[in-house]
Amino acid sequence: MSASGFLGLDVGTQGLKGVIIDSKGQSLWQKTFAYPTLTPRPGQTEQNPQQWQDALVALLEDVAATNLSVEAIGLTGQMHTSVYCDASGTPLRPAILWSDTRGSREVEGLIQRYGEEALWQRFGNLPLVNYTLVKCLWVQKEEPGIWKRVAHVAVAKDWIRFIMTGQWGSEVGDASGTYWLSVKERNWDEAWLAEQNLPLSWIGPVVESNVVVGFNRLGPRRLHGIPVIAGSGDQPASALGTGVIRPDTIGISLGTSGVVFWPQEAFAPPPDASIHAFCHALPNQWYWMGVTQAAAYSLTWLHERFSGQASFDDWTAEAGTAPVGSDGLLFLPYLNGERAPINNPDARGVWFGLSSAHGRGHLIRSILEGVAYSLKDVVHAMKADVDGAHRRIVATGGGVKSALWSQILSDVLATPIDIVEDPGAAVGAARLAQLSQDPAALQDLKPTVSHTVHPNPSHRGVYEASFQQYRELYRRVKPLF
Ligand code: XUL
Repeated sequence: MSASGFLGLDVGTQGLKGVIIDSKGQSLWQKTFAYPTLTPRPGQTEQNPQQWQDALVALLEDVAATNLSVEAIGLTGQMHTSVYCDASGTPLRPAILWSDTRGSREVEGLIQRYGEEALWQRFGNLPLVNYTLVKCLWVQKEEPGIWKRVAHVAVAKDWIRFIMTGQWGSEVGDASGTYWLSVKERNWDEAWLAEQNLPLSWIGPVVESNVVVGFNRLGPRRLHGIPVIAGSGDQPASALGTGVIRPDTIGISLGTSGVVFWPQEAFAPPPDASIHAFCHALPNQWYWMGVTQAAAYSLTWLHERFSGQASFDDWTAEAGTAPVGSDGLLFLPYLNGERAPINNPDARGVWFGLSSAHGRGHLIRSILEGVAYSLKDVVHAMKADVDGAHRRIVATGGGVKSALWSQILSDVLATPIDIVEDPGAAVGAARLAQLSQDPAALQDLKPTVSHTVHPNPSHRGVYEASFQQYRELYRRVKPLF
């Protein structure tokens, strides 16, 4: 008899990832189909949804060619990323990505019109360029010809849901990143949507993450009729897959973006305006999250532009030739502006303290360290480190595959870190598919820690001093952006 499992699909920034897990959470199959990101102008990032669809069809064909049977499909993807469609669901322009910062004027407009305090009271979050609403307001203003033809707007994985099932709609996880949702009520803020010229019929209903929202009709016939589960944004899905579902655990994801994720048992506005308060993928759970826009991306950027033929791993390992603190070289990872904690879309990357004594290894190491400082800065902004409570830190993502980067993170945060081999958001989506069929499976949801990294006490002094300098550096260069 062939094995059966749950398929998780992640419409990621680098590509579409599919994973099939069994009921114990073990991976039976996985595959990724890459697609490019377009950068039409500095600060703008886009993708072509047709390429997501092509990747999805190719992936479903691969699944159908295995002898596995799929019980349910869970969806996840890049949060905030928005697709603008006509009445048939065909995209009218490229999708505008989460990392795109073109909407700063729209953010200012919202703040001027409604006032920070009123927005904070209403949403528990202040508008940021990343949110879907801000991207919609940009299209309304800058591309009226397109806006006139819009009949549906969806976040990336909700458009994928539409092409798979024919059903429009969202769920609380991704809906939290739209700025259309009352995060506290876990429901659309209908009066607000009307004021922003967004008819509810464009968007569809919002449900909890583990709800069946339709049945697949895309790709090979063998996969037709399988229940499709609403799923969640990639950050909550990844946290669920990693077992970060209680306030005593903080998740750090070192992926394209870097994320600090802290589950909360009730809705409460966070202590800093750059931190999001969003709905988790489990009912009655919320989380606070701070995002470093260019984490592993900073390293990929340097590698893509300047490495010649060196493999990514060899290149990263070269950081080990430079000493702790990179001989005074500091890197601010603000290549795509920054969200938390500085909340400045106009910030840009900085190398400070370069001297002729520095070599390539220093440049690479300073990136690993700069990203670690940025994540520490986010932990501070959340005040997760000030009440003396011991919280376990679980780290995941492509970046922690580097032993050196994990060590730097543990040293900079001065705390042990449990490393969970990256199950990725796709596994979280597959878990949601499983939970939709068998809610009791939640009992088994524990992270599989591959190893624990302990801080090296002899690095502490250098990293504490460098972290203070890192913060001071931004304070001083800020007026120049
Ligand atoms: C979360 C965020 C990113 C994207 C891309 O707020 O913007 O992490 O979800 O993965």
